Amino acid sequence: MRMGTIADAANKEASGSSLANEKVTVVFVLGGPGSGKGTQCANIVQHFRYTHLSAGDLLREEIKSGSGNGTMIQTMIKDGKIVPSEVTVMLLLRAMRESGNDKFLIDGFPRNEENRVAFEAVINIEPAFVLYFDCPEDEMERRLLKRNQGREDDNIVTIRKRFKVFMESSLPVIEYYNSKGKVCKIDAGKPAEEVFEAVKAVFA
Ligand code: ADP
Ligand code: C5P
Ligand code: MG
Repeated sequence: MRMGTIADAANKEASGSSLANEKVTVVFVLGGPGSGKGTQCANIVQHFRYTHLSAGDLLREEIKSGSGNGTMIQTMIKDGKIVPSEVTVMLLLRAMRESGNDKFLIDGFPRNEENRVAFEAVINIEPAFVLYFDCPEDEMERRLLKRNQGREDDNIVTIRKRFKVFMESSLPVIEYYNSKGKVCKIDAGKPAEEVFEAVKAVFA
């Protein structure tokens, strides 16, 4: 990946924005597909002064916007693959700048080592902590199959691919932050209200 070029472009974008100061708080919200990241982020936003940025939502919006990358992103999502970081990091950076906020829940990112390194190279904000929603695979599968949001990747074939990508590429990122003492692990297999009680305790 052409990290120098991307970093230069992003630095140009970031300079003069609120992200250039050092008081920005980032929490990475990670967990398998269907573990409840989006659901719990919505709860957190209602109680705490955070802006919720879902990398998956930003990528889906990018497809809808008719961007030149749209077809590539759509193909990757349908196959459960991780979109090149240069795309996702630029979308996150833009959304962070446009929010006007300085506290962010970054949901579904970093999803692999490449995501993590690109964020570090371009945005360079160390997460305050990582919220990890730990949920059994059979429970995640049940939830995704009845999510009913018309997503092209909520079918059993793509779901299985996404689980594999999570185990192979995303869990190592969680392990990386765990080794730095930064992971708050939440038992996400319980009803949403109970999960939120545990989440609230982390933020309070
Ligand atoms: P993620 O963003 O991690 O993929 P979502 O928040 O979209 O997960 O949740 C996936 C589906 O499961 C949604 O339909 C949501 O309403 C439902 N859901 C979320 N949390 C729970 C929970 N604790 N118990 C049961 N269903 C849940
Ligand atoms: O988090 P969410 O379930 O919305 O992600 C849906 C899909 O978006 C992923 O399976 C992947 O194809 C893509 N994605 C990505 N990189 C990220 C987050 C999501 O490529 N950091
Ligand atoms: Mg989600």
